[in-house]
Amino acid sequence: MAEKNISIAADRDNPNLILILLLLNKWGYVSGEDISKKLGVTRSAIWKQVNNLREMGYEIESSTRLGYRLVNSPDLILPEEIWSKAKLELLGKNIHYFSSIGSTNEKAKKLAISGAPSGTLVVAEQQTSGKGRLGRQWVSPSRTGICVSIILRPEMAPYEAPKLTLLTAVAACETIRKQTGLLAQIKWPNDILIDGKKICGILTEISAELDRINYVVIGIGINVNNYYFPEELIDRATSLSLILGRKLNRKELLVGFLESFESHYNLALKDNFKEVMTKWRKLSCNLGRHVKITGKAYSFEGNAIDIDDEGALLVKKDNGEIERVFSGDVSLR
Ligand code: BTN
Repeated sequence: MAEKNISIAADRDNPNLILILLLLNKWGYVSGEDISKKLGVTRSAIWKQVNNLREMGYEIESSTRLGYRLVNSPDLILPEEIWSKAKLELLGKNIHYFSSIGSTNEKAKKLAISGAPSGTLVVAEQQTSGKGRLGRQWVSPSRTGICVSIILRPEMAPYEAPKLTLLTAVAACETIRKQTGLLAQIKWPNDILIDGKKICGILTEISAELDRINYVVIGIGINVNNYYFPEELIDRATSLSLILGRKLNRKELLVGFLESFESHYNLALKDNFKEVMTKWRKLSCNLGRHVKITGKAYSFEGNAIDIDDEGALLVKKDNGEIERVFSGDVSLR
């Protein structure tokens, strides 16, 4: 059956309540009478909505005596799936969901320009022109990975924005470790690797004036259930399911990441960024290693000794000089 192209702009204060009730009572029956009382809708309106959900792949049993029961959910990251599982304050009050889109970052930038509030999320099951850093492409086949963009409007000076990338990397790395037991590591500035292969990438885009940030869009891509990579990526990229040999629950991973992101973001806003830096250092695979830095017009080698408060990588060259690196590619030697 061809997948339907769905896009939903949803607000946590106004969710699809039937889906929420079914998700919160998984395995148990929700009576039609209860639903119609709670929602103030007719039995036939409920029936219609239940059928819509069935069309989307939700397996819902119905019994005239007991009501409705959710037996199985499709592998979709619908807003209600996030709301029913996540404990979030700032993130996800507004969620823009797409079964397919060009790039969640591009959509998030448009939403930010038209005034979307801080914490708005753009989630997609598939990207047809997913963007990576330095003009690269991010491969995102349908329902395999996590593709999400977060709109933020932090009270921060623009020069502090790299902190957001660092804390995103900490949140993603910790979540992957916690949920899979795999030794994920951060490669500066924003790749998460397992055994030297990329599992997650972060693309931070910012609109700012001299002294204030208008908005930041942080795009995160995690290779979760991908079973195939294009030839040119096979040696450099992998997915969690290829490593573990089983399919993973994308919803749990996304919810875990969002909760971790929000708590690290709060640390950064409350002047506790030092805690994030300490974690970043522990999770990094660069520090203490010989690295080669390749920028647009230069390349050099040295020892990665630390990151500084602005997120620059400090590299000690063979002549003893310390270089602060703000952008470029790092290869481990
Ligand atoms: C990189 O490692 O080069 C960054 C990859 C970032 C990919 C994510 S997927 C969600 C968001 N939308 C995009 O188009 N890109 C980011």
